[in-house]
Amino acid sequence: MSAPGPAPDRAVSGPRTGSPKTAPLHVETPTRRTPGADNEAVQPQANTAPVRPLLKWTGGKRQLLPVLSEHYPAAFTRYVEPFLGSGAVFFDLLNAGRLAHCSIELADVNPDLIGCYSTLRDRTEEVISELASLEREHRADGAACYYKVRDERFNPQRATLMAEVGPALAAMLIFLNRTGFNGLFRVNRRGAFNVPAGRYTDPRICDASHLRAVAAALGRTGVSLVLRGFEATLADTRAGDFVYCDPPYAPLSRTSSFAQYTAGGFTTVDQERLRKAVLAACVRGARVVVSNSSAPEILDAYEAADARRAGLVVRRVPARRAINSRASARGPVDELIISNVARTALETVRPRMAKLGGRSPRGRRLAQA
Ligand SMILES: C[S@@+](CC[C@H](N)C(=O)[O-])C[C@H]1O[C@@H](n2cnc3c(N)ncnc32)[C@H](O)[C@@H]1O
Repeated sequence: MSAPGPAPDRAVSGPRTGSPKTAPLHVETPTRRTPGADNEAVQPQANTAPVRPLLKWTGGKRQLLPVLSEHYPAAFTRYVEPFLGSGAVFFDLLNAGRLAHCSIELADVNPDLIGCYSTLRDRTEEVISELASLEREHRADGAACYYKVRDERFNPQRATLMAEVGPALAAMLIFLNRTGFNGLFRVNRRGAFNVPAGRYTDPRICDASHLRAVAAALGRTGVSLVLRGFEATLADTRAGDFVYCDPPYAPLSRTSSFAQYTAGGFTTVDQERLRKAVLAACVRGARVVVSNSSAPEILDAYEAADARRAGLVVRRVPARRAINSRASARGPVDELIISNVARTALETVRPRMAKLGGRSPRGRRLAQA
């Protein structure tokens, strides 16, 4: 697994061909949509049990799904997620059977994350076996085991392996996610993972059937896992695509937001680069949904004339987030959903929304947004 930092463009997709002992990162060009062919190959998921995301992830969108799903376009042939994290929206679409005829591109700049997903996909049983062994160690040693794994195995291995993720390292990431504080993934300026142990009495560390279900979801024909920055992912989007962008949020105050997913963080300059890339994708005809904080600069940026010309509409939605460790600071806050999905398309997907608008104050607010 490479040390965190700017990621090269790297697609990790396709068949399970990792060498048995070393790097399972299968490097090839991203899956390209061939009209008809890819779409026919992807199997519908509607009748199978829902698949939960593999990881807890700061900024994960599970709580926001009821509102976000109102913004899914009625029809699309490719789904693109440039800031994958735990992939809450990907799994939601999958569980709803909305990806049955789509090709899918899941991207993130975090090599630990993409490496973990691709290794789980390609070497599922080996990851399960490693994780089961970590679970036994943790039962015996608790927090002491957490720090031993983090400092003596995980950080040294990911610093030296460079782009190679074996089952042991993938299992360690899942283990640290299940047993670390709030499931946080945070690195210091040198790129070392530095999250303290969480306080769990009996955490479920190795759930083999869940791990197999996630591996199967990621291994479906037409799914590409790609290690790369958002600009390269967005540059490739076009009409027929549904693009969901969930970047690290712009801070509401100097201390409020978390952006240390990578050593470099996500700066104001990155937010502006994202805005430009989103506008260009809209102009090319992609359907785009962006979530972000309600920081004034984000509101201004997406309410500017060029954003409106590109068809983007800003909606303010209440959301409860749990980034702050102090329970008192986790109150409800507004977030923004910025989208060019046309109102008529929303009503086609959610005809009940229009009715709701007449009944509850929240429904009325959303319907009027
Ligand atoms: C808010 S989280 C996404 C959460 C996700 N929607 C979920 O439900 O878990 C933001 C993600 O953006 C990724 N990221 C940060 N900078 C990035 C960049 N320049 N390009 C692509 N991804 C980036 C982080 O690694 C992190 O996984």
